[in-house]
Amino acid sequence: VDHLLGIKYITKDDINLIFETATQFKEVINRPIKKVPSLRDITIANLFFENSTRTRLSFELAEKRLSADVVNFSAASSSVKKGETLIDTVNNILSMKVDMVVMRHPNPGAGIFLSKHINASIVNAGDGAHEHPTQALLDCFSIKEKLGEVNGKNVLIVGDILHSRVALSNILALNLLGAKVKVCGPKTLIPKYIESLGVSVETDLRKALQWADVANMLRVQNERMDISYFPSTREYAQQFGINKSLIESLDKELVVMHPGPINRGVEMTSDVADSENAIILNQVENGVAIRMAVIYLLASKIKQ
Ligand code: CP
Repeated sequence: VDHLLGIKYITKDDINLIFETATQFKEVINRPIKKVPSLRDITIANLFFENSTRTRLSFELAEKRLSADVVNFSAASSSVKKGETLIDTVNNILSMKVDMVVMRHPNPGAGIFLSKHINASIVNAGDGAHEHPTQALLDCFSIKEKLGEVNGKNVLIVGDILHSRVALSNILALNLLGAKVKVCGPKTLIPKYIESLGVSVETDLRKALQWADVANMLRVQNERMDISYFPSTREYAQQFGINKSLIESLDKELVVMHPGPINRGVEMTSDVADSENAIILNQVENGVAIRMAVIYLLASKIKQ
């Protein structure tokens, strides 16, 4: 069975095939009738053991636009709360003849673990601080759409790199596609191994932005910290947040991205989030086409 467990497990050719397929599906989702009958005989379970707005809605819309049957599961209202294991929960769901599982889970590697114990295709919708592959695919697709290509572009990732699955998946995908990657954030939130991934580090945001074609602004993931890594939200915003006057003072073109959920006034002010520089809602729109492509390509293997 084929899966999408992380960018770590796919190739540049896989990404290009996903992008070509997503480009075709983007035309579909912009039509008055937004559906294609491609997956009429496929059933998909969306298992969300951790909160989500964008990813969950985006996967559900992608599945419905491919005409798949969809069931949704949220840990908060399930028997997981009564002590059932992940494998038992998923095997029970699969007994109801489900072909594919889209899973978000707080534990890094949850999808990899599950893939060794069940006979269904798994798509990782975020596993702890490990990977969020469809986010990285939609981010790179959005950069390509905006700038024509990813190869050779300077992409800056700002924020809590240490706790971010979005950062790791983006770095791996950007590396495969030939972008140069730099990270910027508080020293305590940049992991020691980052340079081994071919990524440079700059703790001065202004200098980093001078270098960048694209700035992908990430959230500080307080929910993944046992202790406070940085003195205060205000201090973080002052040193690592962007506002319109900072962007204007750079006197250059800058594409601003954010995977959401955004904290206005922390990662960026509203005058940036709502400006022409920002492609945040394009990222969300592209997310549906990218997820349609991923599901369609995996489902075509199930059907064989
Ligand atoms: N970007 C992202 O994963 O958002 P959600 O947590 O709302 O799904």
